[in-house]
Amino acid sequence: MENQVRCYSDISAEAFNIEKIITDTSSDQVDVETMIMKIYAQFENKAANDPDLPILNRQVHCSLLKSWLKSLPKSYECLDASRPWLVYWILNSLSILDDMPDKVILSHIVQFLSHCQHDDGGYGGGPMQYSHLGTTYAAVNALSIIGTDEAYDSIDRSSLQKFLWTVRDVDGGFALHKGGEKDIRGAYCAASVAKLTNTYTDALFDKTGEWIIGCQTYEGGFAGTHGMEAHGGYAFCGIAALALINKTHLCDIDSLLRWCVNRQMKLEGGFQGRTNKLVDGCYSFWQGAALPVISAILSQENQELIETVLFNQGALQEYIIICCQSPDGGLIDKPGKPRDIYHTCYTLSGLSVAQHGTGAGDAFVIGTPRNEVNRVHPLHNIAPHLVYNAVHYFIRHPPPVKDKN
Ligand code: FPP
Ligand code: ZN
Repeated sequence: MENQVRCYSDISAEAFNIEKIITDTSSDQVDVETMIMKIYAQFENKAANDPDLPILNRQVHCSLLKSWLKSLPKSYECLDASRPWLVYWILNSLSILDDMPDKVILSHIVQFLSHCQHDDGGYGGGPMQYSHLGTTYAAVNALSIIGTDEAYDSIDRSSLQKFLWTVRDVDGGFALHKGGEKDIRGAYCAASVAKLTNTYTDALFDKTGEWIIGCQTYEGGFAGTHGMEAHGGYAFCGIAALALINKTHLCDIDSLLRWCVNRQMKLEGGFQGRTNKLVDGCYSFWQGAALPVISAILSQENQELIETVLFNQGALQEYIIICCQSPDGGLIDKPGKPRDIYHTCYTLSGLSVAQHGTGAGDAFVIGTPRNEVNRVHPLHNIAPHLVYNAVHYFIRHPPPVKDKN
């Protein structure tokens, strides 16, 4: 049957070969595989009596996410400078699970986020905090998920565009905040925000493609900045930003594809972030979403639709649904780790990508059809119709008064 999960004997046949050399890296990998094999073995026993398995526990995730919107555990105090991120991760998770909060709550969120927009046009981590491109991206995504006129109109786009200019460097790179570090997250967040809010101009992203491509490494993935190590989080930022600014022709796409596909773990089914590291649920999105983008680029280059999704969609869903659900709600990096909001958002986003791939064909869902979740746009990580709605709202409404040039 097409959407059946892999059987235990096939999974265990994929065990890592340590080649008789024990290092910290190889023994950590063996430990994780041992733990994952135990979980897959237990699952196979249970599934023998229940054809509906594996099941995505929507209800329990949704009620936890909604409780997080009202009040957070004390352990989140350290994320006081990331509040728009927390809002975005929760709303995107609920949107993927098709269980949005009511209008009153959404309106309160809009008011909260408007207090996070600094006079300089960017969004800070909370009211009265300095602007940062990461929290600006999170706030704009959250407001686009809410998708009401109140949400769109709460964004001061003229000053937002000015902020983007202040963090742009002459070489086309973007710093995360004024005087802050310049890395590929900056380029991606700036491109995503500018595209969604119609504050994009060619001048704002002049040389940005060239700056980003300087981050592609000998392995084929992208690093945070020039000369560093390729990593899934940065590979996503690199290829998504190039796609947003129409500069994908600069990329060595074959080597990126080779690097990305080799990050899917043969036994676990999930992705690792970088060579010789461990599987982690959040890379289900960072690596998983890069692949449909690569697929779309290859389709464009070859002028024919590439229907294959370029990774094992079933194995990724197995890892997420069987290994990454916390029984009391929320999703996790790997078994043994505590749940958190970031991993809940990105494992669910990865599940969406694994089910819907390029969005061209039917959904491929493992377990019960009730496991199907909503689509996300692989470049922005919000639902595709919400990208469309935001872009069209901002095109219909007057653009910012003036660009810097
Ligand atoms: C390594 O962590 C993590 C990084 C080097 C950065 C990850 C970057 C992202 C997730 C992208 C962020 C994107 C935006 C838009 C802000 P680690 O050493 O703990 O993990 P590892 O062992 O899995 O590499
Ligand atoms: Zn992670």
